[in-house]
Amino acid sequence: MIHIRQAEPGDAAALCGLSAAIGREEGAWLLTTEMWRSVSDERRYLRSVRRHPDAAVYAVVDGDVIIGRLSLARDSHSASRHVADLGLMVAAAYRRRGIGRALLEQAVAWARTADVRKLELHVFPWNEPAIALYEAFGFAREGVRTGHYLRDGTEVDAILMAYRVS
Ligand SMILES: CC(C)(COP(=O)(O)OP(=O)(O)OC[C@H]1O[C@@H](n2cnc3c(N)ncnc32)[C@H](O)[C@@H]1OP(=O)(O)O)[C@@H](O)C(=O)NCCC(=O)NCCS
Repeated sequence: MIHIRQAEPGDAAALCGLSAAIGREEGAWLLTTEMWRSVSDERRYLRSVRRHPDAAVYAVVDGDVIIGRLSLARDSHSASRHVADLGLMVAAAYRRRGIGRALLEQAVAWARTADVRKLELHVFPWNEPAIALYEAFGFAREGVRTGHYLRDGTEVDAILMAYRVS
């Protein structure tokens, strides 16, 4: 059965493998085309995040297999502590089954407990599936950040989107 749970340090290798596999997809959905964090760094991060009220990582599991991820982190500036950034991904074989939407609902639930009133994210302009998901959920475009990220050494734009948590 597929369900969402808090990620644990022992999930580090599977989560790194998931992001590496999705990063290699032709759609160029993610910032990195390879593993963006070593397994040991990921394990350390997952350990620290479990004790931290300002960030969270959730895993989507199908039995023993991790097939999705949601990451949340509150803005560190004192003037924008009501804002948190989110990122999510679902394994290719599991897309279009409502998991992305369920992860956004999980993000909103976390935001309410963390007193976060605005969720924001960056998405590449060519990532039509993700933009469709975010717009269907109620995220609004806040602008385009030009040449904001380096992907494989090339500057790329990102759309900034946000959702008001009520
Ligand atoms: C973006 C992503 C997370 C969506 O996850 P998902 O589980 O497939 O999304 P859902 O099944 O919950 O889709 C919900 C709605 O979003 C929209 N949507 C999702 N994928 C879509 C697509 N390929 N084309 C058009 N609309 C799409 C639809 O409105 C869909 O509702 P419907 O299926 O009832 O029509 C997934 O495609 C993914 O992981 N992509 C690679 C990584 C990535 O891009 N992460 C985001 C980086 S910003």
